[in-house]
Amino acid sequence: MKLWGGRFQKETVDKVNQFNSSINFDYKLYKQDIYGSIAHVHMLAKQHIISQQDSISICDGLMGILNDIEDGKIQFDSQAEDIHSNIESLLIERIGDVGKKLHTGRSRNDQVALDTRMYVKDQTKEIIYLLIDLEKNLLSIANGNKNSIMPGYTHMQKAQPITLSHHILAYFEMFKRDIERLNDSISRVDVLPLGSGALATTTYPLDRYMVANKLGFKEISSNSLDAVSDRDFVIELLSCCSIIMMHLSRFSEELILWSTDEFGFIELDDGYSTGSSIMPQKKNPDVLELIRGKTGRVYGNLIAMLTIMKGLPLAYNKDMQEDKEALFDTVDTVKNCIDIFNCMITTTTFNTQNMLNQAAKGYINATDAADYLVKKGLPFRDAHKVIGHLVLYAMDQNKTLNELSKDEFKSFSPMFDEDILDTLSLDKCVNERKLPGGPAPVTVEESIKRGYKWIEKAEELLI
Ligand code: ARG
Repeated sequence: MKLWGGRFQKETVDKVNQFNSSINFDYKLYKQDIYGSIAHVHMLAKQHIISQQDSISICDGLMGILNDIEDGKIQFDSQAEDIHSNIESLLIERIGDVGKKLHTGRSRNDQVALDTRMYVKDQTKEIIYLLIDLEKNLLSIANGNKNSIMPGYTHMQKAQPITLSHHILAYFEMFKRDIERLNDSISRVDVLPLGSGALATTTYPLDRYMVANKLGFKEISSNSLDAVSDRDFVIELLSCCSIIMMHLSRFSEELILWSTDEFGFIELDDGYSTGSSIMPQKKNPDVLELIRGKTGRVYGNLIAMLTIMKGLPLAYNKDMQEDKEALFDTVDTVKNCIDIFNCMITTTTFNTQNMLNQAAKGYINATDAADYLVKKGLPFRDAHKVIGHLVLYAMDQNKTLNELSKDEFKSFSPMFDEDILDTLSLDKCVNERKLPGGPAPVTVEESIKRGYKWIEKAEELLI
């Protein structure tokens, strides 16, 4: 059933109906739509805009529809214009003319803004919960690898020794910021647009605070034009999701590299890997590659939304219906990716012996050798040069710095003493990097403790 048509003398062309319709995707908002309507109707009755009796019939009707949808007894009508029209038509079909009072003092413009805000609020929290689960697992991996030494890289070249714990904690920090960003964005979504009407509110004495209260919104919107035409909150979630995907994608890329024969730092669980149809020996990191790939569509959705909104005059324009697919697809993709990444990382084996073997190569203790000379009184720039020559010599001899003899060291600088070999041990190099924020086992221990405390707080805030 169409909700309009009185002023038309011709039927809408079928193609236009199809083109205009959003039911195939906005059916996802059925729950928000029904809860929003129930709150609106309770308020209409309290304000004596409709009778108590009518309010009860409408709310019962809406609850019946909700239950039937959840029990799979209702097929959405592919001919409906959108979820809002579909539910209103169902209501009128079921309870008769009284159902026609539901839309009093309301427009689909403030209705869709409400439903979308409710959806974004719920989904933001769900994404936060998934990220918190991931954070817990990262802390647990970090905790088990406080002493696992690995090479740290810059420019993809071995740079200085770190611990695996420290490396994993770097991602913990990224996802922590993601959670904080999402949490912060909730304050801007948590604003009730209902009561803004089509664009200029309404002449009925609506109690907007009552509706906000019933639906759990902290505030009500301050400008009706803005309230019906604002999709910043969608863009903000898509932007948070793009950053999350960027982090997941970097992590995936790193794990893909680590799973290669060349690195051999990790072994993915068979359950989270795939094979090749032609090469029997292959074990491929498809899950990680897909996460990396899906980052593209999430960025695409963000750019789509920014572009949709950039030229819209006030207030509502139908262009804005295009927000739904970008939003739903992003939310589904991001939730799916975090979840599967989380399962994958907890089943991955870290080959810490290979990491250590690789750390022993590549002269990653060269900075420590230079610092040794600085501590003996040589200016850093001179020390850098001496060690540069020493590294060149060691490479020529096909030896690591630790394999050089005392006399070989002394031939590069008389400042080298007995203790140089001890200084260059990887354990020592890592243990001494104990500044706050560093890779030393004592430092990561503190970071892990702080991490657990932070998670506890974040969980309390969300409950
Ligand atoms: N399906 C529409 C949307 O998602 C609902 C609002 C329609 N409003 C209107 N005036 N046609 O944007």
